[in-house]
Amino acid sequence: MSSAFQPPLQTQTRSHPHPRRSRLLVRESLMTRFAMCLCSVLLFVLLVGGLIVFILWLSLRPHRPRFYLSSFSAPAVAQPSAGLLNSPISFNVRDRNSNRKIGIYYDVVYGSVYYRDQVVASGPLLNPFFQPPKNTTLVLGDLTGTAPAAGDALAARISSDAVAGRVQFRLELKSVIRFQVKAWDTRHHTLHVECDMAVGSDGDLLASYRNERCSIYF
Ligand SMILES: *[C@@H]1O[C@H](CO)[C@@H](O)[C@H](O)[C@H]1NC(C)=O
Repeated sequence: MSSAFQPPLQTQTRSHPHPRRSRLLVRESLMTRFAMCLCSVLLFVLLVGGLIVFILWLSLRPHRPRFYLSSFSAPAVAQPSAGLLNSPISFNVRDRNSNRKIGIYYDVVYGSVYYRDQVVASGPLLNPFFQPPKNTTLVLGDLTGTAPAAGDALAARISSDAVAGRVQFRLELKSVIRFQVKAWDTRHHTLHVECDMAVGSDGDLLASYRNERCSIYF
């Protein structure tokens, strides 16, 4: 419909272009081509640049350390209503830095053991240290129970759980870490590790929890 309203002059120029106008048209089309070419080159450079930045980011991006619970033992749970006060609670967590080039600086690693959201033992586990790339560091805990005392309601609960064959605990590790990427160090991150597990009536970690991966929060 719109073509019906086109002025006749335009149709004429199209079918019989004036020589000067034709030269102008050629020049215009060359300019358009040049602009398109420039655009494609720019686009290509941008794409390649983006890809390089993406690959660099992928290879330099720090991976958070991974924690696996190897063992946990609270032998006092086997004694009826003995509680955990002054009794040993020991565990072993593997801390894996899977980065190929990035080391991790740790502040003091602090551990806490919870039974039904009550702290039953806590204390420092490791002094500040540097973990090299591709390294596994053992976090050994040898804590002494701070609660509950023998005869407490909570101690009775632990015992009845033990009789049922399953005492649920939660181990938390806390630290502040910093990634080391070549010459520069990243900012500090507060690290929270949480291992949920249960021990059997003998106080030893149930097999299903062995080598379980712990949750991690920053
Ligand atoms: C991990 O690093 C620590 C500290 O540098 C070192 O003592 C330990 O042997 C390393 N472990 C492995 C498996 O390389």
